[in-house]
Amino acid sequence: MVSGTGLASETNIKLPLGFILYGLLALVTSQWILFFNSDLLTAGQFRIPDIWMGAHFLLLGYAAMIAMGAMYQLVPVAFLTPIWSQKLGFVQLVVTIIGITLFSVLLGTASDYAIYGGIPVILGILLFILQMWKTILKQENKTMITCFVLAAISSFFLTIAAGFLLAWSIAYGGIEEHQLILFSHIALGVAGWFSLLIFGFSYKLVPMFSLSHGYAMKWAKPAFITYISGLSVLIASFWISFPYLDTIAWILLFSGFGFFVLDIQEILAKRVKKKLDKPFIFSLIAIGNGLVIHFLAVLLNLIDINNENIWSWLVFLYIMGWIVFSILGYLYKIVPFLWWTHKYSERIGKEKVPTLKEMINERLSVILFIGFSVSVIGLTAGALWQIGSIVFIFQGLLAITSLAYVLSIIMVLVK
Ligand code: HEM
Repeated sequence: MVSGTGLASETNIKLPLGFILYGLLALVTSQWILFFNSDLLTAGQFRIPDIWMGAHFLLLGYAAMIAMGAMYQLVPVAFLTPIWSQKLGFVQLVVTIIGITLFSVLLGTASDYAIYGGIPVILGILLFILQMWKTILKQENKTMITCFVLAAISSFFLTIAAGFLLAWSIAYGGIEEHQLILFSHIALGVAGWFSLLIFGFSYKLVPMFSLSHGYAMKWAKPAFITYISGLSVLIASFWISFPYLDTIAWILLFSGFGFFVLDIQEILAKRVKKKLDKPFIFSLIAIGNGLVIHFLAVLLNLIDINNENIWSWLVFLYIMGWIVFSILGYLYKIVPFLWWTHKYSERIGKEKVPTLKEMINERLSVILFIGFSVSVIGLTAGALWQIGSIVFIFQGLLAITSLAYVLSIIMVLVK
């Protein structure tokens, strides 16, 4: 049922909001850091301190913080169990904010010391994993959503373990497999943690935002098994050389994503709400982007393109077009829901309160989402053709759009 309380849980609103506000600040920070380093992006140089800093403000500061904040709100709704310890949640919030800020800044300014920022990041994320583990295990009837979320959390654990080894290696050297660990770290972080989590929550959010009933989710299990197998084979292909292992991995990952898309199509076909909200449409477009990007990976692999620059930009598209866009769209729906429920749900019927629709500026959201899409397309084109001025202009547009997006969410919170 979609109503003002569709996403309501007993979680203290300050907890998810704390994560979300920091995440928004980190989004703007990351985009301006990348803007000031657009010459490096043009040259396809990703593995240098300033880009590490921008990438981790984006992936840990923005995407992971928003994901964790949203989970404090959504896990009780989706799994019908309250958060294990909200007090621990606030401790985790503070530790993780200190850690991510310190770690990202050190990555950019004194990478040899980044490990000292990495320690509080890892501590904060371990507290989160413990919290979610304890909460989810209390769920009585486990579903496929539980499997997706547990697998995502397990990948998150492996991602930070690999990240710690990388930071250790930068500080003290001596890890010969550094590059293989980096590839595994990226795959586990973006495909394991983020993609599996978005799959899982999409099974809850898509029916909720489209008012859909009577769908079967019959592809959820094949999607889960195939995607996880693809991820495992991909990581194996980094470590052992065996003919066609990487090709098999990309085909499995594409198929897994495709199965998920089949379910989303069925959910949308069975919806009652015919005219969907614009931010939600943007999240659906992100799912389409994800499918195309997975297909491109298969294609590049089959035609044997190994150019590092091209693959780096495919990873960039994966992160922006699929992960970041999904989160941008969902968040634009979740924040007004949260705020409306917190502020007005008790007052409804007693006095005049704004409707949920009045909390969101739909027209502005369309402009913002066009801004994001145009920026990412322009940026990728500029980078692939190595035209510095184009990268500069579109990364600038991305930085301005991010700022406008954040301000428009803040506007919801003052209503
Ligand atoms: C959701 C979590 C994370 C994701 C998705 C993620 C993703 C990435 C990506 C995409 C890169 C490549 C960036 C570039 O080349 O500029 C990278 C590099 C790196 N990451 Fe992470 N990361 C995460 C968390 C962490 C954590 C917690 C640590 C350390 C405690 C860490 C340590 C590093 C280091 C040291 C590098 C640079 C390695 C190199 O290029 O040699 N990461 N990460």
